[in-house]
Amino acid sequence: MSKTPQNVSIGKLPLHVAMIMDGNGRWALSRGLPRIAGHKAGTENLRRVIRATVEFGIKYLTIYAFSTENWGRPPEEVKGLMYILEDVIDRELKELHDEGVQLRHIGRLERLAPTLQKKVLDAIEVTKTNDRLILNIAFNYGGRDEIVQAIQRIIKDGVSPDNITDELVNQYLYTKGVPDPDLIIRTSGELRVSNFLIWQAAYSEWYVTPTYWPDFDKEEYRRALETFAGRDRRYGKVSSNEYEASSA
Ligand code: IPE
Ligand code: IPE
Ligand code: MG
Repeated sequence: MSKTPQNVSIGKLPLHVAMIMDGNGRWALSRGLPRIAGHKAGTENLRRVIRATVEFGIKYLTIYAFSTENWGRPPEEVKGLMYILEDVIDRELKELHDEGVQLRHIGRLERLAPTLQKKVLDAIEVTKTNDRLILNIAFNYGGRDEIVQAIQRIIKDGVSPDNITDELVNQYLYTKGVPDPDLIIRTSGELRVSNFLIWQAAYSEWYVTPTYWPDFDKEEYRRALETFAGRDRRYGKVSSNEYEASSA
């Protein structure tokens, strides 16, 4: 892998990119394959996307791999998705570690098999001092669940209502210490949040593409970054250009 960031033509890079990796099932269906084959192809693509993220010089990547609602899928598919996470850790950890990727998990580990929980925790431990890319894996993650457990812990800690601020809530989220996502990419065209980072996405920019996740390649990733670079992020204010023009 190239060690030089290849972001020269992209302009302003997001610090944090988050991805809803959607469309594996439809990708498989369109080829007459079982859904799990789509998840396997999606996982192969994830390797390429992680590599591209490092090459672009992006610092934080959060990927939505399994939602709290995905437990409602057929048991065979759920089992397959669990197996894929295990397999990815087994096969990719060394290379990710060598590339300076720090793995983190957001969501609840409790419901996963003990052996899988241990693998995730070991991978986090092994990579904890890496700083080239922080890779948050949202697995058994739900935005509402994250907020509910934050409220529970805030109350348990006896925080007085007057001290509850944006910053304090941030400290109680799984993403504590991670900047909000600047850009959220959703593949396969659905125009919805699906319970992903609902607090953190307050001012994220969105890029939605009809491309199914297994086909989302580096060229399209680059286009998403170029689109982001051209956005005017106003945060409820007026554009800085307009402001300067009107006060001149
Ligand atoms: C995304 O692909 C992967 C997960 C949600 C785990 P899907 O499995 O949702 O694929 P579609 O949306 O059914 O095509
Ligand atoms: C979102 O995709 C969850 C992940 C990508 C892990 P879904 O396929 O579960 O979302 P919906 O059901 O289309 O909203
Ligand atoms: Mg889907």
